[in-house]
Amino acid sequence: MTQQSSSLTFHAKPAGPVNGDITIPGDKSISHRSIMFASLAEGTSHIRGFLPGQDCLATMNAFKAMGVEIQGPDENNNVVVNGVGMHGLTAPTQALDVGNSGTSIRLLSGILAGQSFASEMIGDESLNKRPMMRVVTPLQQMGANISAADGGTPPLTIDAASQLKAINYPLPMASAQVKSCVLLAGMYAEGTTVVTEPGITRDHTERMLKAFGYPVAVDGNKVTLQGGGKLTACDITVPGDISSATFFIIAGLIAEQGSLTLRNVGMNPTRIGVLNIVRKMGANIEIINERKAGDEPVADLVVHATQLKGCDIDDADVPLAIDEFPAIFIAAACAKGVTRLRNAEELRVKESDRIQAMADGLEILGIDCTVFDDGIDITGGQLTTGTVDSQHDHRIAMAFAISSLRSSGTIHILDCDNVATSFPVFVKLANEVGLNITQEIVNE
Ligand code: S3P
Repeated sequence: MTQQSSSLTFHAKPAGPVNGDITIPGDKSISHRSIMFASLAEGTSHIRGFLPGQDCLATMNAFKAMGVEIQGPDENNNVVVNGVGMHGLTAPTQALDVGNSGTSIRLLSGILAGQSFASEMIGDESLNKRPMMRVVTPLQQMGANISAADGGTPPLTIDAASQLKAINYPLPMASAQVKSCVLLAGMYAEGTTVVTEPGITRDHTERMLKAFGYPVAVDGNKVTLQGGGKLTACDITVPGDISSATFFIIAGLIAEQGSLTLRNVGMNPTRIGVLNIVRKMGANIEIINERKAGDEPVADLVVHATQLKGCDIDDADVPLAIDEFPAIFIAAACAKGVTRLRNAEELRVKESDRIQAMADGLEILGIDCTVFDDGIDITGGQLTTGTVDSQHDHRIAMAFAISSLRSSGTIHILDCDNVATSFPVFVKLANEVGLNITQEIVNE
């Protein structure tokens, strides 16, 4: 008997105007790190505004499986973690299943490499295609007993390490996940670990190390720490995720009319590439109530419907907007003229090949695209109607969902289940502000 499986389809109908006042859920990157650092800290940490998405819950479950007591998230997304200290984790009894989450597997590999027990990490079909040598190589240089499957993909197998040794590691690509992996392993290594990045990437690990009292020196694109330190419990307030906010920033801009207020958006300078890019396209966005949420800057954004114009995206904005390109491509499809992106080959190794997945969907919807190895040219035009494949990628699904604001008919988007990995309340919030998205469970 064959087992029946099901998947989620979105039906997104033309809609608008986009108006309202919504609060953006917690940042995925910061939520992951808050569980990791709080687990390894001495004492009890309280986390406010945790993102209860599947990816962050996978990180939480991994630490529970290694003996950490964690309560929550409760209905207000508060989490309490009773830290076990740097050497208090216990061996998991089975493989740690991190699902779809690249951040879980890559950051955890740095922590697990420093433990005195063996472990294995497994993931879903999409994660099983993603490159892991980028973390395996530096960890092996540090003396870790870690290996990937043939092809350099998950599962990752880690045997108990003898003492790790610090390295001086120039990152081959601008990746906060690889940077963080090496820094986390560096806490368990003898000596001084130095990571240099080719372009500035998100610095949440560095900020959170400091918040938990672990000395770390940041000098431009160079981060240095000494092994053998300790983390001390603290309280973390997670800001709203600018990557989730982006779907609403672009929705508010491309809508025929309206203005949309987004509360509690993380404004870390290493994450605001999307604002730089849409401003270059002529966006009318006000940034108000700038303040701090713990160690991270936040603000409220007021987004006004704007006729955008195409632009050449600056190379420096690529790592600062790396998760935002599916939505930015929709902005480009609705803009006057051509938008050009280059030096973005990293997009090909995300939850899907985001250059190809977006180009395929945009072409189905009547938009002209030229694909390059490291980027794309998109000529703005009239979005039509059709069925597009999200390739199980949460951000491709949400990007095409908002594109319906400017389409001539319904857009059907296949395989949208993974929206729950990063933004479980996306459809609810979208419909609240004026989109028209229905969801259908399809048996296969
Ligand atoms: C993340 C870093 C980015 C990003 C991912 C989250 C992080 O990946 O795409 O969604 O939390 O460090 P890379 O570091 O591979 O660019």
